[in-house]
Amino acid sequence: MSQDERMYSIDLQSINLTEYSQKGKVLDIGGGGEGIIGQLLGEKVIAIDPRSDELEEAAEGPLKIIMDARELKFLNNTFDGATSFFTLMYIEKQYHQKVFEEIYRVLKDEGELTIWDATIPPYPGGIKDIFLVPLEIDLKDKKITTTYGVLWDQAEQDMKYYIQLGERVGFEVAKKEEMGQIYCIGFKKKVSFKNFKNS
Ligand SMILES: C[S@@+](CC[C@H](N)C(=O)[O-])C[C@H]1O[C@@H](n2cnc3c(N)ncnc32)[C@H](O)[C@@H]1O
Repeated sequence: MSQDERMYSIDLQSINLTEYSQKGKVLDIGGGGEGIIGQLLGEKVIAIDPRSDELEEAAEGPLKIIMDARELKFLNNTFDGATSFFTLMYIEKQYHQKVFEEIYRVLKDEGELTIWDATIPPYPGGIKDIFLVPLEIDLKDKKITTTYGVLWDQAEQDMKYYIQLGERVGFEVAKKEEMGQIYCIGFKKKVSFKNFKNS
């Protein structure tokens, strides 16, 4: 069977990032590949990815560090913002909570985590077992067309899934937006009583 026969693609989805901004230092999770957030925010970005080839492929601008989101090598309360641009769909579900906990830990109080990801319905079985998300991304100065794809089996996810996960680790939802079969969620790290006592 050819790779093409295995592919199931949704329609082209559009994202407008021209209004997105983030103050201070921004940790981009899985910032290799196209490195979209790095292209948008440049030197404000610390892009981490376990794959050096993916980081090398990404455009210059961000500080690129080989690192796994499941075990971030940063001190607590380091970043003003964090982003995950179609990265969580590439990370196995069993690790999602750990990744959220790590991001929560390295964000400053009131720090913001913004994720963009896709709605992936349950795998219906059959030969089409690679789920493709074609995207047209509007940055401030250019448009990028790319496709992200994952093995469909066990990749099921939607916006509600990530909202519940974020709230479970202590984030509150500051904004959420669905655009066709993709979505953007803005989380905020709540200032906890424990953090007040320690400050
Ligand atoms: C295809 S890219 C997604 C898009 C990318 N954020 C961009 O802007 O183009 C997904 C990236 O997630 C990375 N990744 C996979 N598992 C990861 C993990 N545990 N921690 C951090 N990054 C991971 C992959 O190596 C890959 O570079």
